[in-house]
Amino acid sequence: MHKDIREILFTEDEIAERVAQIGGELTDKYSKLVAEGESVVLVCVLRGAAIFMADLARATEVPMEMDYMAVSSYGSGAKSSGVVRIVKDLTASIEGKHVIVAEDILDTGLTLQFLIENLQTRNPASVEVVSLLRKNVKGQAPIRCLQIGFECPDEFIVGYGLDYAERYRNLPYIGVLRPEVYR
Ligand code: PRP
Repeated sequence: MHKDIREILFTEDEIAERVAQIGGELTDKYSKLVAEGESVVLVCVLRGAAIFMADLARATEVPMEMDYMAVSSYGSGAKSSGVVRIVKDLTASIEGKHVIVAEDILDTGLTLQFLIENLQTRNPASVEVVSLLRKNVKGQAPIRCLQIGFECPDEFIVGYGLDYAERYRNLPYIGVLRPEVYR
């Protein structure tokens, strides 16, 4: 275990198992639509969700486009301000397509709230959200998710895409950062 990690919450194997399950659920849900000629696009919210998206795409057995968006919250605080700006938009149109948004973590929910509303204005056939983690916090925006990987405590969590000051994203597991690292 990395010296800056206090505790591993989800091991590499546990994550792989859960991602495989979620991929199976997506395969079940979207196979028929694709067979009927509909299009599916998996949207990654950069940068945290990149690793999750890459694994989830390979665990899902339906043909799909993969596209990427990057958003940024205004404000310098550690918590989202709720004012979200698109830093990088999708490359292709999602009109008439079934969109699956892959997120790494749902915290205040404000990022996803913005994203879902924004994507809905582009006339997709549907928009669903899959979040690897959902933090157990009060006042979280009510986001309807098709699948949640794991519920997690309100701690400073890093690894498998999640960072602190751009570090730890490449840890293969999800762990709690030692407080002395960020204090
Ligand atoms: C994180 C995470 C989500 C968002 C969740 O992104 O990847 O997109 O915060 O927080 P919320 O539910 O409170 O809105 P971050 O802004 O840290 O960027 P990153 O993905 O590049 O790490």
